[in-house]
Order: sequence, then C-alpha cells, then structure tokens
Amino acid sequence: MFKFSVVPFDPKRPMKTVVVFAHEKARLLPEAQAVDRLHKGALAKASKNSRFQGAAGEIFTVTGLSGGDGRALICGLGKWKEMKENDWRMRGLDIGKKIDELGLAEATICLGSQTGEVPPGDAAQALLEGLHLALYRFDRFKTDQKPHQEAKFRRVVLAVDSASVSPVKRALSGFHGLMAGSDLTRELVNLPPNIALPQYMVGEAAKLAGLGIRVDVLDEKRLKKLGMNLILAVGAGATKTQQPRLIVMKYQGAGKNKPFRAIVGKGVMFDTGGYNLKPTGSMETMKCDMAGAGAVMGLMKALALRKSRVNVIGVCGCAVNMVSDKAYLPSAILKSYKGLTVEIGNTDAEGRLVLADAIAYVIQKEKPKELIDLATLTGACMVALGGQYAGLFSTDDGLAEALLASGKRTGERLWRMPVDDAYAAKPLLADVNNDGKRFGGASTGAVFLKKFAGKTPWAHLDIAGVALSEKIPEPFLPVKGATGFGVRLLVDYLENR
Ligand code: BES
Ligand code: MN
Ligand code: ZN
Repeated sequence: MFKFSVVPFDPKRPMKTVVVFAHEKARLLPEAQAVDRLHKGALAKASKNSRFQGAAGEIFTVTGLSGGDGRALICGLGKWKEMKENDWRMRGLDIGKKIDELGLAEATICLGSQTGEVPPGDAAQALLEGLHLALYRFDRFKTDQKPHQEAKFRRVVLAVDSASVSPVKRALSGFHGLMAGSDLTRELVNLPPNIALPQYMVGEAAKLAGLGIRVDVLDEKRLKKLGMNLILAVGAGATKTQQPRLIVMKYQGAGKNKPFRAIVGKGVMFDTGGYNLKPTGSMETMKCDMAGAGAVMGLMKALALRKSRVNVIGVCGCAVNMVSDKAYLPSAILKSYKGLTVEIGNTDAEGRLVLADAIAYVIQKEKPKELIDLATLTGACMVALGGQYAGLFSTDDGLAEALLASGKRTGERLWRMPVDDAYAAKPLLADVNNDGKRFGGASTGAVFLKKFAGKTPWAHLDIAGVALSEKIPEPFLPVKGATGFGVRLLVDYLENR
C-alpha cells in the first residue's frame, strides 16, 4: 500500500509528477493555475492545443516540465461545483489508472482548497480511496512478470489548503485500516477455489485474533451437535478436509455495556450448483460466491485496525457446494437450526440455506440488536441491477435508510427491493421451500431469509452483481476482478449510526 503525507500547497515545492485539476472548458483550478504560472504557462498552452475538455474521466499529460523529466497530469472534474464525495473517488480512480499506466513511483496531488460542497477531509479520503482501489493488483500467480509490469507506486503527497491540513489528516487517520480491510476482501474473492476453502477462511480469522478479535470456529462435529443441518447439507458433497465451518468473530470497540450488531456473510467457497448443476457459462465465476463472507472478514479487519468504537459480531458461513455421493438432493427435507423444516427445491439455492442457519444461530446465541447479511444470493438480482447497485432488502425502514445513505457516501450503492411474502416459494411437504424463480427471484430469496431473522431488525444485501467484475459489462469499479464491495459501505454505516 502506498504511503501518504498531507502538506500545505506550495507550487514551489519540488514535484516531479504533479496532479492538478481542471473543470469544464479545460479551465484550471487555482492551484493548477499556480503550477501553470511556475512553468510559464506550459500546462494551459499544451492543453489548449489538444482535445482536453476538463470533463470527468479525462486526464491530460504534460511532459518535459522543469526542462526535463517533470510531468503534470491534469485531471478533468467536469461540473466541479456539483461534485459529490463519490465523484472525488471516481477521479481518484482515473488518476490511479493513469499512474499505473505510466508506471510512476510517486506523485503530488494538488487538491488545494476547491472541494466545493464536499468537506476537504471527505474529498481527500475519497480521492485516495479511488487511487488505492485502482492500483490494487492480484498478480501473484503470474510467474513471468517483467520488471516494467510490476506495481511501482509507493508514495503520494497530498497538497491541500493550509487551513485544511489538520482536518484532512484527521479524516485520513483510519485510511490504511479501511483499505487493508478492502484489500483482504478482494484477495479472498480473487483467490481460486482450490486455495480459498473453508479452512483457509479459518486461517484468516485466526490472523484477526492477533488484532484483538475473539474468534470461535464451529467445525462439522460441532455443527452437527448443534443441529445446523442446512449448512452441513450444502457442504456434504465436499471432501472431508473441505467440510463446512461457521466462523464467529467478536470485536468489542464500544465497551462492555453496549449491544452488538451482527454482520453475516455467505461463504460458499465455490458453487457448482450441486445436483442442480450449473451449466458452462454460469459456473466459471462461482469462486465469488464467498464474497459475503469475504466482506465480513475484511470488515472485521478494518474495524480492528481503525479501533472503531463499535461492537460487532461477524459471522462467516463457509461451505463448498459440490456434487458427490454424499451431496444433498433435491426434495430432501432437512431440519434447520431454528427448527423450521426445509424442503430442498433446488440444490443451487444453497446460499439461503447456509445463511438461514448462520442467522438463526447468531440471533439465538448473541441476541444482536440488529443483523445485516451480505450474500451473492441470486442471479435475478444481478439481472435487475447489473454491476452498479447491490439489492437492499429490509423490514426496517430506519436501517434501510441509513444503509442507503452509506451507499451514496461510499459509492457502494444500494437499491431497495421488496421483501413481500407474496414472493415466497410454496412448500409441499415441509415448513418452507428454498426454491426460487427467474422472475422476482431476488425477493424470493429475501423472504426465505426473513423467516430466519424473525423479529430482529434485519437487512439483506444481495451482492451477486457487484462482487466480481469479470464478466459484468458495467461494473461499479472500473477494475477487473474482486471489488471488495461491502467493506467501505459497512465501516461507514457502523461508525456513523
Ligand atoms: N451463487 C448463486 C447466485 C449468483 C449468480 C451469484 C450469479 C453471482 C453471480 C446462487 O447460489 C444461485 O445459484 N442462485 C440461483 C437460485 C435459484 C436456483 C433459485 C439463481 O440465481 O439462479
Ligand atoms: Mn447456487
Ligand atoms: Zn451460490
């Protein structure tokens, strides 16, 4: 991860690579003008003789400054006065991609005083988040990397208005913790399914214990004793060393007397569909089916590193949905941890089974005041919202509104969808059925989960479309692979509510 420092803006400070901003009609912001003056108008002149318009997404490069290898990147902001926090994040992504393309090791970004209606601290954090999100790489399995392909960026200097230096520093105090959490989630989701297995998640949780998080791991024997037959059924087809694990992590940053919130993640380490096997074309990306659990793991790490004043229980329900002579069958009837009997309409609707036991268990054992689950639950949600928004399902308007607000701030956007019993799958021989349909399927999944959340205020985030951007035409992050969706969203939610 790059290092950063925050300094008062001074155009005379030596800067080999300087990033400045322009808005509509390629007009330079004041700090950019100051840099331009220092270089005798070279920035304005070069950009005037180009197609650069200062639109959002444009970056114009001026080379040969200071009589040699000095360089300026002029980042277009577009309608600068209308910018929201997330627009600064998007510009950070633009700059990050350019920095990576140029193979730069460091840069000075002249954010200056012109952050419009967004407080400078928030704009600075969003900008650096974007930069970091764009510069993340997952290339450890490429054994033939050439030196020019390696990640080089090490250091960014953020030059701000002198009055903003301390507020910006304060706003960035938890930045490394936040991005370390986001990186962990991206890594877990990017890792292939032959490595990222339930026991691997246990190893990651054990590392978090070193940060002051209490970790309890339920292996298949304890799951059996407790009657968690749904999660066991989903993992039954996997080999002995790949059996399910329920990981419960407790972070108590708000003190002993404050209640806990629970965050539960779907951790299907790979989803073949089971006997309702997925066809070619649908199965290839299913290593992402643990992105909910991956987000919970990254979230716990971020909270601990940031020393957030919140009490949170993170739960990862981990299993591998496989086909074998031990695998569960369509039409099986299973007794859940909560006591409800479940008829298996489809072995490919396994996520709601894993979550049902995990949710019922944490509610029964810890009595959290509120529960949020994250899951790559349905293809139907991805059809509805594509790669731009995750589905939000909740029976609690206050909780839903707060999550929507966090989504807007962090750019991990949510769209509310119905939780209505009219969508429920009809059971034939048991209390509930796990089946779903193509039409309205995201709500069918949510209605199933609601039965297991009972009276606890609850929200469900269907992140099927936003967790992995490999095949999605319009991903919410313009970077291939895992996005880390959920970590920044929930850190914001938990710390601000
Ligand atoms: N893991 C999938 C959902 C999914 C699809 C995630 C695409 C990411 C991208 C889930 O377990 C699943 O298979 N859902 C089924 C449910 C159906 C059988 C009721 C689906 O969406 O088709
Ligand atoms: Mn499935
Ligand atoms: Zn799945």
